[in-house]
Amino acid sequence: MSQNQETATPVTKPTQEVVRKPKQDRPPDDDRGTWKMSRRGFFSMAGWMAFFGFIFTSTIGALRFMFPRVLYEPPSTFKAGYPQDYVIGEVSEKYKDDFRVWIIRDVNGFYALSAICTHLGCTPRYLASENKFKCPCHGSGFRGAPEFGINFEGPAPRPLERLKITLADDGQILIDRNIKFLFEKDEWTNPESFLKLG
Ligand code: FES
Repeated sequence: MSQNQETATPVTKPTQEVVRKPKQDRPPDDDRGTWKMSRRGFFSMAGWMAFFGFIFTSTIGALRFMFPRVLYEPPSTFKAGYPQDYVIGEVSEKYKDDFRVWIIRDVNGFYALSAICTHLGCTPRYLASENKFKCPCHGSGFRGAPEFGINFEGPAPRPLERLKITLADDGQILIDRNIKFLFEKDEWTNPESFLKLG
């Protein structure tokens, strides 16, 4: 046997080192237990939130039932001051915002013209420089003096309405918005649709 044969050592395959994860990298049993508790806690909390949400909405509903929302409606009749407060030729917008009424003073007396568009109910604007009332919603136009309220352009199917106008006992102009006079029914000739004053 040669010397080379005596010293040769068998070639062995390198063994694969098994890398074991250190124990401390895994969540300790206590942490996993805590996580489980948190999940239970989460669902428990969600349940309570749903419960209190239900109680809250039920309470709001009950309160709204006990205190229904009241819409402010201006009174149907109102006093519009004294005749001498107006100047001839004036279209007063003093009561337009609160009552949707124009008070018109011409040489013979007063009209109360409804500021409700006869198309779909928007509030027209009085354009003094163009002597007309113009609705901002769909462009209807109503004439100014001397045919106050007659429709002449846009989709409005009929003139603006006049409202009952009289003098109250104390001498003030009294408007009743519940009583309307329609031009197309020839009601503008009704004496209550016009307050005759010299
Ligand atoms: Fe006035 Fe339509 S509501 S034009």
